[in-house]
Amino acid sequence: RKRIAILTSGGDCSGLNAAIRAATLRAINHYGWEVLGVQRATQGLMNHPPDVVELTVEKVNSILTMGGTFLGTANQGNPFAFKLPDGSIENRSAAIGEAYRTLGLDALIGIGGDGSISILEKLAEEHGINLVTIPKTIDNDVDVTEWAVGFHTAVNIATEALDRLHFTAASHSRVMILEVMGRDAGHIAISAGIAGGADVILIPEIPYSMDHICEKIAQQQRQGKNYCLIIVSEAVKTEEGEPITCSNASEKARYGGIGNYLADRIAECNGAETRVMVLGHLQRGGIPSPMDRLIASAFGVAAVDLIAQEKFNRMVAWQNRQVIDIPILDAIRQYRPVDREGTVAKTARGLGIYLGD
Ligand code: F6P
Repeated sequence: RKRIAILTSGGDCSGLNAAIRAATLRAINHYGWEVLGVQRATQGLMNHPPDVVELTVEKVNSILTMGGTFLGTANQGNPFAFKLPDGSIENRSAAIGEAYRTLGLDALIGIGGDGSISILEKLAEEHGINLVTIPKTIDNDVDVTEWAVGFHTAVNIATEALDRLHFTAASHSRVMILEVMGRDAGHIAISAGIAGGADVILIPEIPYSMDHICEKIAQQQRQGKNYCLIIVSEAVKTEEGEPITCSNASEKARYGGIGNYLADRIAECNGAETRVMVLGHLQRGGIPSPMDRLIASAFGVAAVDLIAQEKFNRMVAWQNRQVIDIPILDAIRQYRPVDREGTVAKTARGLGIYLGD
């Protein structure tokens, strides 16, 4: 009878609980294993005794629709460079290997983005941990998987925001700018921008010119469309290519991100009233979309099946309508930007959306 553990690491997103639930149900109902949940990512394994809870069918039954992760997470918890309260840095990775053995684990399922997955891979390699990983990130920038857990919900939320802004923009004849997350990739912005009827989509992968944005606004005004919806990805730079924003949300709230910069520049070239909305962490939380629940459930089941086959150091991925598995090292090697000549970009241009030059 195997004993496995599950942890969630890195920023939260919708669908994590659906993945935990699926893995737990598969492990208990199909294989008759024991399942432990590790609290607050690898930090839970560094504590003595480790912070774990037993996951039962009863415990996971009602978590399918819950946002976030009921196990907790951490993204400052790199055990190879662990920050102590006095500011010094210590390598605490051995404690994790020790916890894995003390708990009598046969395998660990790590749910994370590329950063967390590469740390888990190193831990597994150095401390003999049988690891299987599940990709999650609202940014959808893990190259080998078409979908990561969390992306669809984030796109739904950004699309709904555009739908709502639409009415205010039209009622007030305004330019409304919606700034969305995505880290270095523009997948959320371009997907929600198309789905939500944006007129301008700005993503880090494609440079733009202010003249062309202002021309687009003026052209719409000439055609009788008195408002303009702009969606911009947080990592978009200034027109001159200077980085303006950072991934730290609290600094962004203080200094203002790319949305504010664009609003100032639009005010210079066009008299239209402009307002900015930074969507922020609303994109990460809340009830997971059906698509995220489906993907997370498929990944959870597949991860447990990999353990049953003793196939370790693998990440599950969604490719061509099915779940496959690949070596973790291949999975984290490549980051996936928006393909500027791909179908999604072509669709945006085909609709007459200004997507940069
Ligand atoms: O990677 C997920 C993500 O939400 C990014 O889109 C964003 O840039 C970042 O995390 C925000 O991180 P934090 O929650 O630490 O502010």
